[in-house]
Amino acid sequence: MPIAPARAAAFDILLRVDQQGSYASELLHSGRLESLSQGDCALTTELVMGVLRWRSRLDEAIAAASSRPLAKLDPEVLTALRLAAYQLQHLTRVPAHAAINDSVELMKRAHKRSAAPFGNAVLRKIAAAKITPPPEPTDWTAALVAREFAHPQWLVERWVAEYGVERARLICRHDLQIPDVAIRVEDPAAEKELNAEGVKLDRGALLASARIVTGGDITRARAFQEGRVFILDEASQLVAALVGTGSRLLDCCAAPGGKTAALAARNPAAEIVAAELHPHRAELLRQRVRAANVQVIQADALELPTSGGFDRVLVDVPCSGTGTLARNPEIKWGLKPEDLSDLHQRQAALLRAALGQLAPGGRALYSTCSLEREENEAVIEEVLRGSSEFALRDCREELERLRSTGELVWSDRDSLLSGKFLRTIPGVQPCDGFFAAMVERRG
Ligand SMILES: C[S@@+](CC[C@H](N)C(=O)[O-])C[C@H]1O[C@@H](n2cnc3c(N)ncnc32)[C@H](O)[C@@H]1O
Repeated sequence: MPIAPARAAAFDILLRVDQQGSYASELLHSGRLESLSQGDCALTTELVMGVLRWRSRLDEAIAAASSRPLAKLDPEVLTALRLAAYQLQHLTRVPAHAAINDSVELMKRAHKRSAAPFGNAVLRKIAAAKITPPPEPTDWTAALVAREFAHPQWLVERWVAEYGVERARLICRHDLQIPDVAIRVEDPAAEKELNAEGVKLDRGALLASARIVTGGDITRARAFQEGRVFILDEASQLVAALVGTGSRLLDCCAAPGGKTAALAARNPAAEIVAAELHPHRAELLRQRVRAANVQVIQADALELPTSGGFDRVLVDVPCSGTGTLARNPEIKWGLKPEDLSDLHQRQAALLRAALGQLAPGGRALYSTCSLEREENEAVIEEVLRGSSEFALRDCREELERLRSTGELVWSDRDSLLSGKFLRTIPGVQPCDGFFAAMVERRG
C-alpha cells in the first residue's frame, strides 16, 4: 500500500523543521502541498501542527514504549514515531493500523529499514496502552504545567515568575489549540464579496475592523489574493492601530507586511517607507502591499538610506515569537535561554536606529510578539536610560482614543496594559501575545 500523501508530506515537513530550523507554517504555505487535495492539505496541517504542539507528551509515550533512549534514535525514525503517536493519541477517526503502517513505511523510505521492526513494536505498544488522563492538579506548578501542556519547563518557569502560575497555565493551554484566523477588513464591499464566496465571518473581539474566519477558505478568496484583505492576528492589528496617523511614516522591519498594509489604509494620504532586510522578504512585501503610497525598500534598518524626519515610526522587531506558539509551535522546542540576550542586543540596536529617524515631536512604536522581558521592557529601559531627548508615552492614551472612535471594541482596557506598555497575553485575550511601547522624541 502506498503511503498516504498527507502523512508523507507531514513527515517531510517535520524533518525539515527539525533539521533545518524552517518554520512549519511557511512550509505548509510554500506551494509544497499544491499537488494535494484540499482534504489532504488540511490533514497535513493537522499532523504537522499537532506533532509540534504535543511533542514532549508524544516523546514521553514513545520513551515509555521504547527499549532505546530517544536521543539514540535517528531523526527520521523519531519523526515517524511522533507522527504515528500523535495520530494514535489524538485523532480518533484515524485507524491505528494505517497510522502505524505508514510510519513504518516512512522509516523504510528514509533508508532506515533496519529500524522498521523496532518502530512497529513501539507503535503497537503505544496503540495498546490505555490512556487514563490523571485528574487535573489543583495546585499547579511550573513543572506540572510544562508536562501537562507540552512546553519546555524553563520557559514555563519564566512565565510563572512574570505572569503568575494561572496565566502561565492559560498561555500553555492556548498554545495547544488551533488559533483563530483573524482578518482585517476596512471595506464593507470586500466583506460582502467574501460572504458570497462562502467565507463565513464573525466579529473580532478586540477591534471593529477585525473579523474571525469561521468557515470557507480565505486564502482562495479573490479579495485575499488581490491584497484587499489581510490575515492578521487581532493583537497585530491593534499594534498597527497604535501607530496612529501622520504625514511621513516609516515601517522599519516590514515584511511580510500585514502591519504596513494596515498603516497604509489608516494613512491613505501619507508617504510611507517600508524597509526589509532580506531581499526575498522585501519582494514578498512588494507583492503583498500594493498601496500606491507605500515605497518598499530592501535595506538594513540599522543603516537606512532615508533622511529621517518621520513623524510616525513602527519598529516591529524580529523576536523569539513566544507570544505566537499556537501558530508557531516549533519555536518552543528550538529556543534556548541564551538566545534571549542576543535578541535583546539586536532589538536595542534596531530601536536606537529607529528613534534616530524621528522628527522632533514624532512617535515610534516598538513592538514584539514575545512574552519575554529581555525583548520588551528591558529593551525600552536600556535604550531610554538617561535620555533627555526621548520619553516613554503611556499606551493607555492611545487605547482611550481608539475606544472613543469605536475602533477598539474590547471593553477591559486595563487588561491590555502593563504599566505604560501594551501587553496582550494569549489565552487571557483571544489573540497572540504582543508587547508595544510608545516613545516620543521631544519637540
Ligand atoms: C516581526 S517581523 C515583521 C512583521 C511585519 N511588521 C508584519 O506585521 O508583517 C520582523 C521582520 O524584520 C526583518 N528584519 C530583521 N532584521 C532587520 C533589519 N536589520 N533591517 C530591516 N529588517 C529586518 C525580518 O526579516 C522580518 O521580516
